[in-house]
Amino acid sequence: MERVFSGAQPTGNLHLGNYLGAIRNWVTLQKDFECIFCVVDLHAITVWQEPNELRSNIRELAASMIASGIDPEKHVLFNQSQVSAHAELAWIFNCVARIGWLNRMTQFKEKAGKNRENASLGLYAYPSLMAADILAYKATHVPVGEDQKQHLELTRDIAIKFNNDFGVEFFPQPDPLILGPATRVMSLRDGSKKMSKSDASDMSRINMTDDADTLAKKIRKAKTDPEPLPSEAAGLEGRPEAKNLITIYAALTDANVADVLAEHGGTQFSGFKQALTDVVVEKLAPITEEMARLKADNTYIDAILAKGAERANAIAQPILKEVKEIVGFLNS
Ligand code: TYM
Repeated sequence: MERVFSGAQPTGNLHLGNYLGAIRNWVTLQKDFECIFCVVDLHAITVWQEPNELRSNIRELAASMIASGIDPEKHVLFNQSQVSAHAELAWIFNCVARIGWLNRMTQFKEKAGKNRENASLGLYAYPSLMAADILAYKATHVPVGEDQKQHLELTRDIAIKFNNDFGVEFFPQPDPLILGPATRVMSLRDGSKKMSKSDASDMSRINMTDDADTLAKKIRKAKTDPEPLPSEAAGLEGRPEAKNLITIYAALTDANVADVLAEHGGTQFSGFKQALTDVVVEKLAPITEEMARLKADNTYIDAILAKGAERANAIAQPILKEVKEIVGFLNS
């Protein structure tokens, strides 16, 4: 059976990269797969989160998923900490994964920075929890942006080693689904850095909660080079900021880069930025409005998450029970 699992961290500042690289694809996949979408709060606390902000960010992320088109009735939308199988399976995977594998994780190196000794143990074990998220449901497909590819390779390695260690064919090796033209949306201030929730400059990203004036200002101030737009994709080589803005435009209008350049090639960036602002506002405003409406009522979001946790638990618990038997634990 084919099953999709994916998640996002409730760390605030949900941005256009999260939307184009992940959430928008999740919405499409709902047609063809059984889907499970998770607000990964256990992952969020691998770096410090102020408790009240975390609570609010969990609800905001759930609201943004629903506002983007995730259907919590047909599919499962829940919050990670409300399903204990994730933490339990992660511990077992901590004992399957090798330290050498985790030492290779580039995201840990980036997030821990120079002061690695001071990073939380949770940040180091992060990918093992991510493997547990996916494999607790025996998910077969995982739609993510490009930055999560290495974590998914580790998930596959853990699945293979678990199966080998215990001589079973239990876990599937899930396939990453890295879909669409915008698998790595870059910062508006620096075309060599990905758009990120944790960038200190809010001007570097387009937040899902930005109003039209803020969006216009951010796009107007986005870094570009002095040349006009090229007419062909080859002309974007060595122009990362130009490439990023055009990719965003293409993704939001469901066009390909060649078509966008055929239309806008030869024009100056000032004109293109206006066209891009119009498209971004047109696509994001309905989602932002719906997010605000949903967020105004905590009880609605909390009820959706509680129901989602129940349904997630009903899938994960029997799988975890089998895992415990395979490992040699006594089942109650
Ligand atoms: P997170 O919360 O950082 O991001 C959520 C999703 O957004 C994608 N993404 C991007 N895509 C394109 N361009 C960008 N600039 C960009 N920034 C982020 C991410 O690739 C991701 O798909 N570890 C995950 C959360 C997670 C998860 C999982 C995902 C936990 N368990 C199990 C899949 C399956 C993360 O930190 O995503």
